[in-house]
Amino acid sequence: MAYDVLLETNLPLPIFKKGKVRDIYDLDKRLLIVSTDRISAFDVVLPNGVPHKGEALNRLSVYWFNQTKNIIPNHILDVVDPRIVLVKKTEPIKIEFVIRGYLYGSTWERYRQGKPISEMKLPPGLRKAEKLPEPILTPTTKAEVGHDIEMTNDDVVKKIGKDVAGEIEETCLRIYEKASKRAEANGIIVADTKVEFGFYDEELLLIDELFTSDSSRFWPSEKYEIGKDQFSFDKQYVRDYLNSLDWNKQPPAPSLPDQVILQTSKKYIEAYERLTGRKF
Ligand SMILES: Nc1ncnc2c1ncn2[C@@H]1O[C@H](COP(=O)(O)OP(=O)(O)O)[C@@H](O)[C@H]1O
Ligand SMILES: [Mg+2]
Repeated sequence: MAYDVLLETNLPLPIFKKGKVRDIYDLDKRLLIVSTDRISAFDVVLPNGVPHKGEALNRLSVYWFNQTKNIIPNHILDVVDPRIVLVKKTEPIKIEFVIRGYLYGSTWERYRQGKPISEMKLPPGLRKAEKLPEPILTPTTKAEVGHDIEMTNDDVVKKIGKDVAGEIEETCLRIYEKASKRAEANGIIVADTKVEFGFYDEELLLIDELFTSDSSRFWPSEKYEIGKDQFSFDKQYVRDYLNSLDWNKQPPAPSLPDQVILQTSKKYIEAYERLTGRKF
C-alpha cells in the first residue's frame, strides 16, 4: 500500500539538533522545529514512518500551548506549516520536569523497591498504575548520554533558585490539571508527562513540546485496570507487533507491516481529535 511519510528533512539551514522524531534548525535567535513522521519504540527509531503523525503531534502541541498560555507564556512564534513551528530560542533549563498523576514506569519501580520518590511521602499499599492522591513532580537531569537521574528538591533549588523552582512547580501542577481533566473527559488518561522550560530575555517560557504522546503516557480509559501493564493509546499496535517477533530491542529495528502502520496512524489522529475536540 502506498502512503506518504516525511522521514527526513534537509533544509538549507544549520542544524540545531536532530532528535529521534524532530529535526530542529537553528535560526540564530529562533528555532524551526519540524515534526517528522518518524516513530520510536523501546527507544529505537523504526524504519517506517507513520502517516500524519508529525502533523498530529505538532498540532496537538500547539493546541496545548494555546490552552495554557494564560498560565505560562511559551516559545511559539508562528505555526509555519501543520508540522512546523517557529519558536524563540531560549536558554534551556537542563531539567526534565515530569508530572505524574499515576504510579507507573520508573516511579512505580522505585516505590515497589521502597526507594524515595523526590522525598515525597506516598501512602503505602498503592498498586501499579494506581491514581496518586495528588499529582507529583519528579524532576530529572537531562543526560546527554545515558539515563536521566532523579533530582531532589534541593538539587533543583541549587540549580535554578527557590523562586524559579517554586514558580515552575506551581505551573506544572496547574497545566497538568488542565490537560488531564480535559483528556479524561474524552476517554484518555494522561498518566504522566514531561515538560521543559527556558529563559528568553529573562522571561520564563514553556518550551519543547506539550502534552503529546511523545512526551506523555496516554492510556485509553476504557482499558484502564489497576495493577496491570497499561495499553498505550497510540503505540500499542506497534509494541504488540514488535513483541510478537524475536527482536532483541537493539537497533536496527524490524520494519512494520502496512496494517500496523495504518492502525497506528488512525490512533494518532483519534488522539488529536479526542483531546482537542476538533476535526483533524
Ligand atoms: N525553545 C527552545 N529553546 C531552546 N531549546 C529548545 C527549545 N525547544 C526545544 N528545545 C530543545 O531541543 C531539544 C529537542 O530534542 P528532541 O527532539 O526532544 O530529541 P530527543 O530525541 O533527544 O528527545 C531538547 O533538548 C529541548 O530542550
Ligand atoms: Mg525530547
